[in-house]
Amino acid sequence: MSRISRTWRSYPRIDSSEITPESVWLNRRNLMKTAAVAAGITAAGETVAQPKVLKDLNFSSAVANTPFKAGEDLTPYEAATTYNNFYEFGTDKSDPARYADAMTTDPWEIKVGGLVNKPGKLYLEDIVNGFDLEERIYRFRCVEAWSMVVPWIGFPLSKLLERFEPTSEGKFIEFKTLYRRSEMRGTRSFTSIIDWPYREGLRLDEAMHPLTLMTVGLYGKTLPNQSGAPLRLIVPWKYGFKNIKSIVEINVTDRQPKTSWQDLAPQEYGFYANVNPEVSHPRWSQAYERRLPSSLFNPNRVKTQMFNGYGEQVAGMYKGMDLANYY
Ligand code: MTE
Repeated sequence: MSRISRTWRSYPRIDSSEITPESVWLNRRNLMKTAAVAAGITAAGETVAQPKVLKDLNFSSAVANTPFKAGEDLTPYEAATTYNNFYEFGTDKSDPARYADAMTTDPWEIKVGGLVNKPGKLYLEDIVNGFDLEERIYRFRCVEAWSMVVPWIGFPLSKLLERFEPTSEGKFIEFKTLYRRSEMRGTRSFTSIIDWPYREGLRLDEAMHPLTLMTVGLYGKTLPNQSGAPLRLIVPWKYGFKNIKSIVEINVTDRQPKTSWQDLAPQEYGFYANVNPEVSHPRWSQAYERRLPSSLFNPNRVKTQMFNGYGEQVAGMYKGMDLANYY
């Protein structure tokens, strides 16, 4: 049980020099807010039909006491919510922000089953009322070699799983995204390559790890649809494609589940997908990343870190594994 009862508080040790002073942080937030309003971003964000239960939530206590700082500047809200991958709405980076509003997120039900003692369904309101929300500022690294730093709001996935009591045969977790063709233009496209619904998976110990977060918000607001509303997984030491959006189903399994990208191109996208600058993608190096916002003239290149900088907390889970093999 130690895996379950260890809390995240015992995890990342952050140097005090890494912690952004609150006044600087608040100032930066205000600046970002002003810039976002000027750019019409807030208005756009708020037109999203968010579930009422989330709209009414006050995220301020989650935001107020986070010990999680990435020690780096936040990616502006606009960049994080207009340059997205959410193939259900198209493959262009701008498609999700343009088309994901078509997805209805109220009511939202999540089914939890498989190898658990208490299978069942939860409405989003059960989830957000049942867990203390926290803000966590994490680095996020896409396998395509772009990255961002985002203040997510959520709760540890372990808290949710504990409620359903995985049995001793449970070794993996499988996640599925909503699949609703009528609202998801990307799934109707003749160029669509994914066998819907989008699926992802984790080993049970990874799912129970204190850094693994179920998120309902970012930047002090509810998740906009393009970011995976209303419930999305964030595993900060893994490539972006593991961070499955708009989750409706979670199963505990005894076998490694099939995942969408591994299914499509197993030689390019592995099940583990741990950020690793030493193991190149077959078509490009993973040694560097473009930190958003980036452009041709200002690529904003930074060095990629092993396990995306979370090695101290997670490397132990992969001891003895050849990470070039288990990519
Ligand atoms: N989840 C679903 N359901 N569909 C997707 O296409 N794309 C993944 C991941 N989760 C994807 C998804 C990929 S490839 C990445 S890089 C991240 O979402 C992007 O997250 P972001 O748009 O918030 O940056």
